[in-house]
Amino acid sequence: MEVLIAANAEEAATFAAEAVLHGLASRKTGNPVLGVATGSTPLGLYSELAQRVARGEADFGSTSAYALDEYVGLEGTHEQSYRQTLINELCHVIGVKEENLHTPNGFGDSEEQIIAQAAAYDAQLTEAGVDVQILGIGTNGHIGFNEPGSSLGSRTRIKRLTAQTRADNARFFDGLDAVPTHSVTQGLGSILQARRLVLIATGSQKADAVATALEGALSAACPASVIQLHPDVVVVLDEAAASNLKNRRYYDDAAAGLQFGI
Ligand code: GLP
Repeated sequence: MEVLIAANAEEAATFAAEAVLHGLASRKTGNPVLGVATGSTPLGLYSELAQRVARGEADFGSTSAYALDEYVGLEGTHEQSYRQTLINELCHVIGVKEENLHTPNGFGDSEEQIIAQAAAYDAQLTEAGVDVQILGIGTNGHIGFNEPGSSLGSRTRIKRLTAQTRADNARFFDGLDAVPTHSVTQGLGSILQARRLVLIATGSQKADAVATALEGALSAACPASVIQLHPDVVVVLDEAAASNLKNRRYYDDAAAGLQFGI
């Protein structure tokens, strides 16, 4: 695991962009496949990638994107659906074509239908083979919408949201009551299939979750700790999100070594 601690938001976006582009470039055959996250955290990364597109250094015209999660009960055209959010914050920003954006479908006539749609999405994901999965982290240690207690081997499925997650996300809705109670999320086992994981966390509200995920025990109690099992993980933090890490000195030494190609 590489832990890169940036001095500010711009540097964090640069570190994350480098990690994403190197991961995509290492694909041997076929078009690149990018796993994408919503939330406020990856917006700086998307903006940095957009600048590289504008400078002719990157091109996402042939990239497929697969979302981590979606709310149950919102159609893909709903303005707070993650599909719409990604069309606005990813497709329109870095140039992934809308027809190449894949999102779980949390809308249907019955629970059985949504369960079947989730299983189909998981199969599609496996078939595509995600090169790089971008991850944020919830204040309770969730990734995607895998709330504490999620099986470390879970697949894409319906997941009940915790009260904390609904409260955290209420800022995007007209009050807490409007926040859906359930999601369809890639499972932790699904996320681990990606060839590289790039987890980004910024702000002091993430410091506890980050320390538990990186330096705590591998445990369903902190779903993000599952990244400890993955052989190619880059974690990009700002100072505030890194503030509870015990091994900070080591991460800095290792990152300095990286810069010199050691
Ligand atoms: C939501 C998403 C997660 C995201 C998390 C953190 O719950 N399902 O994928 O990582 O929010 O969001 P933010 O980056 O806005 O703090």
